[in-house]
Amino acid sequence: MSLVNMKAMLSKAVAGKYGVGAFNILDYNSAKAVVSAAEDLGAPVIIQTSAKTVTFWGSRTLLGWIRELADRAQVPVAVHLDHCKDLDLIRECIDAGWTSVMIDASAKPFEENLSLSRQVVEMACPKDITVEAELGAIVGVEDDIHVKEQDSHLADPKQAMEFCARVRPDCFAPAIGTAHGIYQGEPKIAYHILDEVARNTRIPIALHGGTGLADEVFRRCIALGCAKVNISTQIKHAFIDGFTGYHTAHNTQYDPLKVLRAQFDEMKKGIIENIKLFGSAGKA
Ligand code: 13P
Repeated sequence: MSLVNMKAMLSKAVAGKYGVGAFNILDYNSAKAVVSAAEDLGAPVIIQTSAKTVTFWGSRTLLGWIRELADRAQVPVAVHLDHCKDLDLIRECIDAGWTSVMIDASAKPFEENLSLSRQVVEMACPKDITVEAELGAIVGVEDDIHVKEQDSHLADPKQAMEFCARVRPDCFAPAIGTAHGIYQGEPKIAYHILDEVARNTRIPIALHGGTGLADEVFRRCIALGCAKVNISTQIKHAFIDGFTGYHTAHNTQYDPLKVLRAQFDEMKKGIIENIKLFGSAGKA
């Protein structure tokens, strides 16, 4: 199948009350683990790339790997640019073939966030590329965006309505108390905000900060309208632990392909658990 945007997959997910996993990849091996897990389970899937990963490999190289995997897959695969503040990079990814992009202007004042997000919708929409936009400030580190606890704030439901009505994103990321990275203590999720925002905006919601959330939290957020569920830190850990774990256990063996296989297996194992939990298995 060729690459698709997020529109159909997210509207089906909202209607069916399941979540589509959006997994941040780092290279070909991790992208392959995502697609392979989705294929084994017959699930639609979103491959996410951070802005840093795009810059590291180059947009055309990265997209080439992803397109090759998607073309051969039997399930719908979208490729989405995660948290991007840079309009030039968004334009570059659109031109290179990304099917979806996120503008993260959440650190800007409301009107400026709105205007930048609107510009991206105007750039992407005529090319049938979906757009995610954010409101509020999600605590933690994602890519080169660092939000300290004291600077984080939840999305205001009234502002969220105005933002979505004026920007018309395809997917909306309100800050609801989840965090990027490893949780220090139990997160306090503002379910009431999620509920109000999802019901009033009627736009599929993206759940950020997926790594480390309890199963029950995922289920509740998905039931309230989180159609896209983001997982990044878990994959970074599996990427490194899978690699080093194999080498530690076989420290006299220098067989890189066996190490890459162990890394692949470790990433895929976690992704399979996520997809089953989010309820998207069999929904391709
Ligand atoms: P985690 O790194 O906590 O899984 O969050 C992922 C995310 O929200 C990417 O935007």
